[in-house]
Amino acid sequence: MSGEQPERTTSRTGSGPPALLDLTIDNITPNTIRINSQSDNARLTYLMARLVTHLHDFARETRLSTAEWTAAINFLIGCGQISSDVRNEFILLSDVLGLSLLVDNINHPKPPGGTEGSVLGPFHTHDAPVLPNGSSMTSDPAGEPMLAVCTVKDTHGRAIPGVTVDIWETDSSGHYDVQHADRDAPSERCVMVSDEQGRFWFRGLKPVSYPIPHDGPVGKLLQLLNRHCWRPAHVHFMFGKDGWDRLITALYLRGDPYETSDAVFGVKKSLVIDLDKVDKETAKEYGVEEGIWLLKHDFVLTTQEETEKLRDQLATEALQKLGLNLKLVDHLPVPDLD
Ligand code: BEZ
Ligand code: FE
Repeated sequence: MSGEQPERTTSRTGSGPPALLDLTIDNITPNTIRINSQSDNARLTYLMARLVTHLHDFARETRLSTAEWTAAINFLIGCGQISSDVRNEFILLSDVLGLSLLVDNINHPKPPGGTEGSVLGPFHTHDAPVLPNGSSMTSDPAGEPMLAVCTVKDTHGRAIPGVTVDIWETDSSGHYDVQHADRDAPSERCVMVSDEQGRFWFRGLKPVSYPIPHDGPVGKLLQLLNRHCWRPAHVHFMFGKDGWDRLITALYLRGDPYETSDAVFGVKKSLVIDLDKVDKETAKEYGVEEGIWLLKHDFVLTTQEETEKLRDQLATEALQKLGLNLKLVDHLPVPDLD
């Protein structure tokens, strides 16, 4: 612990923070907000005010018991204790509470035809090899082979060359490579770059459904809630190119038993696809065996400018609906005091 003491302030003079005395169920909220409102950062002040309002209302509405508050604190401590460089239980918590998907939807709205986003999850890594089109990204001999043939286009149907595409999926046992203690190299993941026609293609595995990590506090919570911990079979994709809104998404196999009950709420109708089988011509064209699984998909990216405009428009409409006196500063709402 540092021996240095923070500077003393006074709450009794007019210059210091507001005097806090005799706080009650009814006046604790405005007083907490007042003392949190001394920063010049309008966005931080607004975020804290709304957080405190909702937290306090939650406690008042539920008449939160001390035992429940303690259990919640212990739950959060458990999330911290099980987290490490390669595991983040708090993101998992955000995922199973639907917050991750909500934040992605708010921040990356799509115009009609734009490929929708999905949850990132904790298994993307930065060490995937950049592979030329047509490569195999799997080293698992047990899985069912799949050829993926995809394009990246804009909302007018024009090809976007030079897009970096991160792709990752589990092996046939439903585990990502990083979940194997003996991982010595990346597997079932790669980075591709779209060609002049916006195409990229690779060989992977037919995805399988798998459980999210459930040996920690989040798994226990799901159990208490009588919820399962499964994700439907999917392949992750992340698209990046300067000037384009980064797209984090996934494609889900139609008919998966968890298609409509994903533990982390990532499935959207537009992301559910049917696999085909590779025919003779396609096999010849792509140098793969006839009869293996075929995933074909056209992804549609939106520009950063398009996305920002749409996000501002949706934010303005949402705030108007809420009847709040707010304005957008740097695309984010703050109270309008003018
Ligand atoms: C995933 O799809 O990799 C994932 C997403 C959220 C939580 C756990 C896993
Ligand atoms: Fe996944």
